[in-house]
Amino acid sequence: MSFDQSRQTPDARVERTTAEEIGRATIAAVVDDFYGRIQHHPTLAGPFGIVHDWPAHKAKMTHFWWLSLGGRPYLDYRYEVMPKHAAVGVTAALVDDWLALFETVVHAHVEAPALADAWLFRARRMGDSLRLVEAYYRRKRERGDTPSLAHRAL
Ligand code: HEM
Repeated sequence: MSFDQSRQTPDARVERTTAEEIGRATIAAVVDDFYGRIQHHPTLAGPFGIVHDWPAHKAKMTHFWWLSLGGRPYLDYRYEVMPKHAAVGVTAALVDDWLALFETVVHAHVEAPALADAWLFRARRMGDSLRLVEAYYRRKRERGDTPSLAHRAL
């Protein structure tokens, strides 16, 4: 039985090879630039004040995007994205700011529009999940539960 490639969406075709096509060096450059800018950002610098080892954070995030874009793991690290962001106090407005900055930086480094779009598609989807984290803890607070993960009000 032959495989009908015309049934694949363009996004699925791009996503399978996005990590290799962008390349680890460019992913690392985006991460470096992005977190460099975050440290001076009017709304994002504050929450990121808890990061003390920037080289370690950048190495972790380069690996995270490499994996998210279809690359094979090369670090032994277990990500806990949702609990960590609940603890940081992520809000929908901060997610919007994060994504706006990320979009600027990705476009500054990734020339091919299809590759930039594939990466930004992934980032926006994660942003949607993070907005749900905020909504989840807001509902918990409204019910009077004490959020177990958030160490400050969202
Ligand atoms: C789509 C948007 C975002 C993505 C894809 C993203 C992704 C990630 C990932 C993968 C980690 C590593 C988690 C781990 O070590 O297990 C991380 C850490 C972190 N993120 Fe985000 N993030 C986003 C938005 C935000 C926003 C809006 C904020 C705050 C305003 C934020 C603040 C942080 C901080 C402070 C850490 C370090 C946490 C720690 O080391 O304990 N992130 N992020």
